[in-house]
Amino acid sequence: MQFDTVVAGGQVVTAADTFRADVGIIDGRIACLAQGLAGSAAKVIDATDRLVLPGGIDAHCHLDQQSPAGINHADDFLSGTRSAVAGGTTTIIPFANQRHGQPLRLAVDAYREKAEKAVIDYAFHLILCDPNAGVIGQELPSLIEEGYTSFKVFMAYDSLHVSDRQILELMDLSRRERTLVMIHAENHDCCEWLTEKLLAEGRTEPRYHAVAHGDPVEREATYRAIALAEVAGAQVLIVHVSSGNAMREIAAAQQRGIPVLAETCPQYLFLSEADMDRPGFEGAKFICSPPPRERGNQELIWRGIQTGVFQVFSSDHAPYRFEGTGGKGRHGHDAAFNRIANGVPGLATRLPLLFSAGVRQGRISLQRFVEITATNPAKIYGLYPRKGSIAVGADADLAIWDPGRKVMIRKEMLHDNMDYTPYEGMEVEGWPVITMSRGEVVCADGQVTAERGRGRFLPCDRIQEMKAWL
Ligand code: URP
Ligand code: ZN
Ligand code: ZN
Repeated sequence: MQFDTVVAGGQVVTAADTFRADVGIIDGRIACLAQGLAGSAAKVIDATDRLVLPGGIDAHCHLDQQSPAGINHADDFLSGTRSAVAGGTTTIIPFANQRHGQPLRLAVDAYREKAEKAVIDYAFHLILCDPNAGVIGQELPSLIEEGYTSFKVFMAYDSLHVSDRQILELMDLSRRERTLVMIHAENHDCCEWLTEKLLAEGRTEPRYHAVAHGDPVEREATYRAIALAEVAGAQVLIVHVSSGNAMREIAAAQQRGIPVLAETCPQYLFLSEADMDRPGFEGAKFICSPPPRERGNQELIWRGIQTGVFQVFSSDHAPYRFEGTGGKGRHGHDAAFNRIANGVPGLATRLPLLFSAGVRQGRISLQRFVEITATNPAKIYGLYPRKGSIAVGADADLAIWDPGRKVMIRKEMLHDNMDYTPYEGMEVEGWPVITMSRGEVVCADGQVTAERGRGRFLPCDRIQEMKAWL
């Protein structure tokens, strides 16, 4: 067999195994896994002393969206996907965001056009803020056929949140059509009531965001989302779980055999509410919803990753710059916490942070790392086996890691369009030194070489039965 490229001499890592093999690539796909392939290749990439992992799948990131308050994200599909490859990610699943009264089809078409600049492959979740009878009865069934099989709804946020009744209708459709409802679990009335109370008391600094979006607010909504899924007989995935107490609700439901999946994110392992209490307006950089909790909570989230409560680890990249008219500080550096855009960036830092503190510091195995950052997202969202593993026939999406490389995270190396990273100055051990998408090197030694627009849309299959996973 003659290969276009062979990745030679590395340790191949999948969610199941680690083994020594060369990876032979033809036409962007993995054609052979065996030793001694380098002699039959047009191009050889030396992976001696390196780990060869499936490229990461970031199943929760926001690009080129507008916040509910009308602030634009700093990253579009070009800067966002360039940043993704710099951190070893080769597939993203961002959101096409419906606006009130807008036909879903218009939102999908608009986001498909925005995504034409992407440098890596992408699928889409749909954000539904107005799941009316037309959306549920007509629009969704035809979009599902076209490969949009996961839908996010919000239980909080002024212009986004939907009622329990609407969630039930959507879950009912999801059960019939074998799709997945993703839930942003925070109690809207609690957030609103707490916010008004805090503002009336003059408690306006960034740190009060953590109070207005406190732990019980997330726990109640998580419990309710699970109960709604039970009522509707549907599978559900709770996104960006931050609180150990919300996680316990999920674990308890999983133990009862309820098909509840869950995702967590770097901000809940590496940031804490103390960051929102940094001097001046600095705390604004760490505001996201749900917020990072007290430091002790981080260990609970690690336990959830270790014990399988969480199936997915995503960035929830929601990039609002710090400075400038479109940034977190657009209302001035004394703006009240509820006027600061919610979200932190993380496309490039998601994998190195978890690899370093998880794999290198002995909290999780390499297999678990691959599972929650690539294989599970591919399986859950209907992209497997094309994406998410290293197997003959799969797309040659690879991240070649130097497991011992020590790197200090600095904003300049992340290739996004942000003016800060919440992880500035953190030291990590292990870095993806080469990223390949469909057999092409798209980033090497920090240089992004991918051509604008080379990414392709990935239609997602219907969702599998998840009970067996729990
Ligand atoms: O604060 C966050 N997470 N912003 C992004 C939107 C969302 O809720 O995922
Ligand atoms: Zn959310
Ligand atoms: Zn999000």
